[in-house]
Amino acid sequence: MAWLLNDCCFAILLLLTAFGVTAHAGNVTYDGRSLIIDGQHKILFSGSIHYPRSTPEMWPSLIAKAKEGGIDAIQTYVFWDLHEPQQGQYDFSGRNDLVRFIKEVQAQGLYVALRIGPFIESEWSYGGFPFWLRDIPHIVFRTDNEPFKREMERWTAKVVNMMKSEGLYASLGGPIILSQIENEYTLVEGAFHDEGKSYVRWAAKMAVGLQTGVPWVMCRQDDAPDPVINACNGMRCGETFRGPNSPNKPALWTEDWTSFYQAYGEKTYMRSAEDLAFHAALFIAKMKGSYVNYYMYHGGTNFGKSAAAYVITGYYDQSPLDEYGLMRQPKWGHLKELHAAVKLCSKPLLSGEQTTLYLGQQQQAYVYQNNNSGEECAAFLVNNGSREARVVFQGRRYVLPRKSISILPDCKTVAFNTAMVTEQHSTRSMVPSEVFNSAVNWEEYTEAIPDYENTSLRAKELLEQTSTTQDKSDYLWYTLRYQHDSSDSQATLKVDSHGHILHAFVNGIFVGSAHGAHNRRSFSLDTTVNLTKGLNKISLLSGMVGLPAGGARMERNFYGLRRVKIQDKDFTRQSWGYQVGLFGYRSQIYSDLGSSKVQWKNYGGSIEQRLTWYKTQFDAPEGNDPVALNLGSMGKGEAWINGESIGRYWVSFHTPQGNPSQQWYHVPRSFLKPTGNSLVLLEEEGGDPLGVSLDKVSITSVCGRVSETQLPQVSSWVEKNNTNSTMGTTAIVKLTCPPGKSISNIVFASYGNPIGNCERNALGRCHSVYSRAIAELVCLGKNKCSILPSNQVFGDPCPYTRKTLMVEAQCQ
Ligand SMILES: *[C@@H]1O[C@H](CO)[C@@H](O)[C@H](O)[C@H]1NC(C)=O
Ligand SMILES: *[C@@H]1O[C@H](CO)[C@@H](O)[C@H](O)[C@H]1NC(C)=O
Ligand SMILES: *[C@@H]1O[C@H](CO)[C@@H](O)[C@H](O)[C@H]1NC(C)=O
Ligand SMILES: *[C@@H]1O[C@H](CO)[C@@H](O)[C@H](O)[C@H]1NC(C)=O
Ligand SMILES: *[C@@H]1O[C@H](CO)[C@@H](O)[C@H](O)[C@H]1NC(C)=O
Ligand SMILES: *[C@@H]1O[C@H](CO)[C@@H](O)[C@H](O)[C@H]1NC(C)=O
Ligand SMILES: *[C@@H]1O[C@H](CO)[C@@H](O)[C@H](O)[C@H]1NC(C)=O
Repeated sequence: MAWLLNDCCFAILLLLTAFGVTAHAGNVTYDGRSLIIDGQHKILFSGSIHYPRSTPEMWPSLIAKAKEGGIDAIQTYVFWDLHEPQQGQYDFSGRNDLVRFIKEVQAQGLYVALRIGPFIESEWSYGGFPFWLRDIPHIVFRTDNEPFKREMERWTAKVVNMMKSEGLYASLGGPIILSQIENEYTLVEGAFHDEGKSYVRWAAKMAVGLQTGVPWVMCRQDDAPDPVINACNGMRCGETFRGPNSPNKPALWTEDWTSFYQAYGEKTYMRSAEDLAFHAALFIAKMKGSYVNYYMYHGGTNFGKSAAAYVITGYYDQSPLDEYGLMRQPKWGHLKELHAAVKLCSKPLLSGEQTTLYLGQQQQAYVYQNNNSGEECAAFLVNNGSREARVVFQGRRYVLPRKSISILPDCKTVAFNTAMVTEQHSTRSMVPSEVFNSAVNWEEYTEAIPDYENTSLRAKELLEQTSTTQDKSDYLWYTLRYQHDSSDSQATLKVDSHGHILHAFVNGIFVGSAHGAHNRRSFSLDTTVNLTKGLNKISLLSGMVGLPAGGARMERNFYGLRRVKIQDKDFTRQSWGYQVGLFGYRSQIYSDLGSSKVQWKNYGGSIEQRLTWYKTQFDAPEGNDPVALNLGSMGKGEAWINGESIGRYWVSFHTPQGNPSQQWYHVPRSFLKPTGNSLVLLEEEGGDPLGVSLDKVSITSVCGRVSETQLPQVSSWVEKNNTNSTMGTTAIVKLTCPPGKSISNIVFASYGNPIGNCERNALGRCHSVYSRAIAELVCLGKNKCSILPSNQVFGDPCPYTRKTLMVEAQCQ
């Protein structure tokens, strides 16, 4: 392109290039307004994407979609347990390749916020601590304890030095602009009294001493010591945050929850695009917020055993990018518009003075104006009421929808309103691609039930489960010999457990199961069992569904069986025999190598068979759509593809509404070969493998709904201003199918007063008969299309009424 430039511009280009090569960003600093990068104050939108919750093959597209959504920075934790699985042995390969992830973000021109922790919570097993940490003599986690501080400092320094040697801090020309030490420590600080306070001071000093050249934050830590910034976590930081603890620190929001993590037995938490936009805008307008991070922007998948206690395998599927990396609409698009609208206000926001005007009982205007240039003015008109409000601001009238904020980048024109969603809604479908319903294609292997004679580890008490298994397995067998002399063939068996699930066997025969739940510390099994006269073999399999992700004194938690009674006799202090894990697990029969270690049998057809492994083969579905296993016919267990665990499943644990908490389990494309893939399921409870399918996941329908008088959102506002477009002052319906797909059918079209909001749509009393024909004419066969809701297009089906256009289309 250079030959097209005249001399003047060419010189500037040269100058810029030279500057770009030699300059680095310099240290990142801050003041009471914002972070200062390259000498510039910044309003930043950030999104959490955790590198091990997706695959390196997914990272470029996830980051690109975040960038397209108006995200400036990617925030991630560092997952200590993955990187140092054995003390002193490190792993930074594959999904654990932190440096590659950060360099990918850098390559796409975004910043990075690195939350080193090392405690991260994050609904991650043990809050990211490696399990061996608890075996360090005299250790007490997360307090003023020398052995703990030594390990924390060693690991933090290792991460910081790695980032430095790769040149990844902004101070060295890299993308990292912010680091975090500790995480939500306030939640446990009280348990440690003065030592908690001194630990906070120590952690801040230690981190700052590592000289990263970029600021450190602590989240949910009101007393974060200088120069560490206290940041807010939650859903409503515009209302709940008490603000920075010094006028010289900016207001940062490290976790704006786009949904909430989900535990088995619980239903999905839905947070609307409108609510997210309202609170992000409020934080910026009212709190002078300058950094908002969406937690999560892409949640992803808790592969293997990484999910914390009872937490489901899919993580924050309701994020702007769903578990599979698909855009969740309208959330993704509505936030994109919000970001663009706020960026139009950057100048007055960053250099102007904030004033608050009261426009009504529940209506305020937050105005940012620069005294020196009267031109630069931005306003946020907040309606916190539950009804639409009419207000007057600077001599102009505005209608503010209920619970909404209008953003006026010039203090005159509304560029965006948080409650007016003009983005399309999208519907995701799971379409079976491979149905595993042929019995001849399955093989099975059932675990033998071990008894006391089979065990080599013995103790005269009930051992704590995780210290016995070293968290190498979710399972521990507790076995007992019981001499039954009574003539009564039945007896009661009562087991109290601090584990998560229990399967009980007597003489190798299943007698009962029980399990706990998230936020429940213990549970019991109370059942009547058949005994034989003489010696009986009691075998109790205690299972964990992840370690907890937090709490004070995690290292002292007790898991596993606490008390066992048969009839009225207490066996808690009898001689118990132990076996760690299942045979199939120890032999890794889910892998190619381990598979031959057992004798697989033809599938027997029993759907009640416990502790059974199932194995089959399949070819990868065609195309590039993400894929997921539909395990709706199974009970509880774990699934492997080509030896890689895609996580635990627990379909039988229903929500109060009677549905599985999670039925589909993501199989990353990169786990698959074109042909001959192995699928192995470990089923604990009983299930029907013939009901399993491998489904393609895609956006199959899109729907747009816009009112005639609805304001254009920011992108059309900018277009109007810059390109002199004729779109006028109303918003338009825009439909876009995923790349490579086009609109194959108009499912619904109505210009008038249609009922529904892209859900359960129906015609209203007013309807233009041309609606469908026009939608078909404009949209069929296209990847994207736009339609103006106007009488000029559709005729006027009902004069003097405000009309709405709603169009739903299928993508194929
Ligand atoms: C950048 O920060 C580092 C570490 O805090 C410090 O040693 C250095 O002097 C700073 N450089 C500049 C240019 O301020
Ligand atoms: C801006 O103007 C207002 C009102 O005239 C005044 O109160 C305020 O101090 C000024 N701010 C600055 C930074 O000059
Ligand atoms: C909005 O009203 C609710 C109570 O209805 C209150 O809790 C909240 O703080 C208010 N928010 C704002 C921004 O005024
Ligand atoms: C346990 O030991 C018995 C003999 O006491 C043997 O028959 C059985 O196969 C063993 N089971 C396992 C799982 O090793
Ligand atoms: C116990 O034995 C009774 C009678 O033989 C039988 O009906 C029952 O199903 C048995 N219970 C279990 C749990 O095996
Ligand atoms: C809109 O256009 C005017 C005139 O060209 C320009 O001064 C102004 O900066 C533009 N505003 C935005 C938000 O682009
Ligand atoms: C905008 O449209 C008007 C009327 O069509 C035209 O006269 C004017 O030149 C256009 N402005 C630009 C910047 O294209």
